[in-house]
Amino acid sequence: MNEMNFMKKLIILVATAFFLHLQTEAQNLADGEKIFKTTCTACHTIGKGKLVGPDLAGVNARRTPKWLLEFTKSPQALIKKGDPIATKLFNDYNKIQMPDPNLTEVQIKNVLAFIKSKSAPATVVKPVIANTKATTAKAVISNTTSKIQEVKKTSSPVADWIDAEYKIKSFSFAGEINPKDLNASIWNNQKTNMLPISVQNFTYPNLQTASVDSISVKSVYRSNQVVFLLEWLDSSKNVEVDVDKFCDQIAIQFPLNTNEIPSYMMGNKDGMVHIIHWKSIWQEDKEKGYRDVQVMYPNMWVDIYPGLESYLDRSKRVYAQDITSEQIVETHSFGNMPGTYSHNPMSQIKRKEPVEEANAVGFGTIATQETQQAKAWGQWSNGKWTVCIVVPVNTGNIYKAKFTDKTKVAFALWDGGFGNIGGRKHFIPWVDLILEK
Ligand code: HEC
Repeated sequence: MNEMNFMKKLIILVATAFFLHLQTEAQNLADGEKIFKTTCTACHTIGKGKLVGPDLAGVNARRTPKWLLEFTKSPQALIKKGDPIATKLFNDYNKIQMPDPNLTEVQIKNVLAFIKSKSAPATVVKPVIANTKATTAKAVISNTTSKIQEVKKTSSPVADWIDAEYKIKSFSFAGEINPKDLNASIWNNQKTNMLPISVQNFTYPNLQTASVDSISVKSVYRSNQVVFLLEWLDSSKNVEVDVDKFCDQIAIQFPLNTNEIPSYMMGNKDGMVHIIHWKSIWQEDKEKGYRDVQVMYPNMWVDIYPGLESYLDRSKRVYAQDITSEQIVETHSFGNMPGTYSHNPMSQIKRKEPVEEANAVGFGTIATQETQQAKAWGQWSNGKWTVCIVVPVNTGNIYKAKFTDKTKVAFALWDGGFGNIGGRKHFIPWVDLILEK
């Protein structure tokens, strides 16, 4: 009898302990989820691809628990120590240092447990395809306004972005599109995809405050081209560059390998991207002729303008404003300028298009492509830029984008009037490009 009582008590005790254990485990996971969402999602996803840092799905299988604990506590300490895995990760991820999260050991264990729980295959695979069909362009637009507001409020807009799964619908077209015809009738019939934009505040030089909310994107495609009509509000037209002046710009980016999407931040090692970059300064040059000192410093004069001796009356003072754009281009073409002479792509003065195609494998690696096929035209009017960009695809050139059913596109945008330049920019991470039949 006593023994039976004891057994009953024991069973109750064990069951209670087990129940409490389950309960604390659930609490720990909830705690881990909260930490993950507030401190990690700006740079990591679990099963939705790379962001600034690696996709953490399955990280528990790739690394030992001891290493994970030590790394997550202080990635900086581990890199300093010369840990080979941490060093390799650091180099592979554009030398961006993951900040020490400043969490207790318990919190770190909880967040790692949460990542592990989310790494189970059943939760990783999302029914993206089913989703895609159901989301009409209309739904995307109506969603957008509230999303923009959310993005403005939250401290980690990229995380919202990843969850929202924005899409651009591109429609097939036949014939030719002239990018200069920004009012072409083909654009009237196309759906507008409004995409909220974020700021690059992960690495220096960075941007903390957005001056642009969103980009409106229309897109059409045919076998070897995809064409975008991009519009965004910008109160000032900035088309000059000087030590303290920057121009407005927009860039489109495609992964070369759509099976393994690289970092949206200009790709990564083994993950090259195709970048198509339009600049307002090139646009203005196309419209007004190449602008040089004669525009920037019209009252400047020097004794000698190399290459222009035969044109200029040396008996009197010649000001920069007396020199024509054609004459400037000609002096450069004489090869007096080391940049032009050595065909440095940065020094080009006879651009065919106000746009350039390049490739990158991470920050600081951008390189101009040898074969330039993109076309573009832009116009600023009434506080709005409208830019049409024709991108060559499926050309057989390994450095250019090739379309698959998993094609993605990302954008970068610079507001020159707000000091945007280089890494100090707005951006939109990878968005699915849906090629509608
Ligand atoms: C500012 C961006 C950023 C934030 C925020 C961030 N990480 Fe990272 N994380 C990285 C980068 C970048 C790497 C790659 C290693 C490196 O460059 O230092 C990385 C690597 C990792 C790794 C190793 C991945 C692997 O494949 O071995 C883990 C684990 C990790 N982070 C967990 C976390 C957790 C947990 C949080 C939140 C508490 C977090 N990270 C917050 C940028 C970030």
